[in-house]
Amino acid sequence: MRRLIDRLAAGRMLARQEFRALIEGREAPGLADYLFERARAACERFYAKDVYMRGLIEFTNYCRNDCLYCGIRRSNLQAERYRLSKDQILACCCQGYALGFRTFVLQGGEDPYFSDARMTEVVSAIHGAYPDCAITLSLGERSYASYQRLFEAGAERYLLRHETANEAHYQHMHPASMSWSQRVRCLYELKEIGYQVGCGFMVGSPGQSTECLIDELYFIKALRPQMVGIGPFIPHKATPYAAQKAGTLELTLFMLGLIRLLEARALLPATTALGTIHPQGRERGVMAGANVVMPNLSPVGVRDKYLLYDNKICTGDEAAECRHCLQNRMRNIGYNLVSARGDCAGFAANTLTGRVITDPEEQEEVYV
Ligand code: SAM
Ligand code: FES
Repeated sequence: MRRLIDRLAAGRMLARQEFRALIEGREAPGLADYLFERARAACERFYAKDVYMRGLIEFTNYCRNDCLYCGIRRSNLQAERYRLSKDQILACCCQGYALGFRTFVLQGGEDPYFSDARMTEVVSAIHGAYPDCAITLSLGERSYASYQRLFEAGAERYLLRHETANEAHYQHMHPASMSWSQRVRCLYELKEIGYQVGCGFMVGSPGQSTECLIDELYFIKALRPQMVGIGPFIPHKATPYAAQKAGTLELTLFMLGLIRLLEARALLPATTALGTIHPQGRERGVMAGANVVMPNLSPVGVRDKYLLYDNKICTGDEAAECRHCLQNRMRNIGYNLVSARGDCAGFAANTLTGRVITDPEEQEEVYV
């Protein structure tokens, strides 16, 4: 089994049965530790011991969708809905900038109030005020034209978890009105436009099998995203999945390690969900190959309203507290929390032509 990990670390893809053997045999003595050691080494080649921080601004919890797992689904009538104004969002960025953040992630439910015109105004205002910062959007599915307008307004990165790489599993977790092929189409469109793209999935979501996890690895290999956000599924009490079991720390870490070897340059967050299921979840995530953390910059007054799952951590902490807490946590495990924008290694605008190079082979030629 260690040989399989060595092959992955050497940049070779494994066959389905080889991934199956690794995932199902992950409790073999020393195997996970060996994977994490190789994953850390792969990450260090590009990012040394740096961990990037992203300031998360949860600016709306209105959502037109009804994903079965999500606490802000539209059928959850107990959720107290809120939206931040442009000025409130800018105030979050101002506070974040002073704390050293150079990436702002605007995340929200799919809220039609934030039309292209309103969203473009927000993105342009942030871009104008903080031209040295990266703006990441996580607004769900929109049209090609909308993604294009937001890109032109200054957004450079987009997070859109595909949630599962298996179409039947996607249908199991979503209402019939939502489609896997549409979600995947959005990811490819975002890439084509020139965004640094983040996909991702929940580990241990209801109905997920080993085969689904193998599908994830092939999906990532085909998409070649710049970021991959994975975290454990955690039930929310007001959803149809209230009584389902949460994903485990151990399987989430193992998948993080495999993904690091598969896409050595990817930016991989140690997510808040990982910190929620285990007090040292984020540290353990970094020790398994992650290199990003996303402290919350949302105003404390709305934090406990953006509840995707139960018992979410840090809902009462000020941004400054979270930042310093994470800095200490990273220092304790020998890593540095850094202020840099933290772009994906090998992904940059071609300054000669102004063209963004997204083709992986061309990137190898230009940037290696
Ligand atoms: N609306 C945007 C979208 O659809 O991409 C962004 C917001 S959405 C709430 C952010 C992510 O939260 C989802 O992609 C999903 O993976 C995650 N999430 C939702 N419910 C969750 C749960 N119960 N446990 C863990 N993660 C969850
Ligand atoms: Fe929020 Fe530690 S990250 S208190």
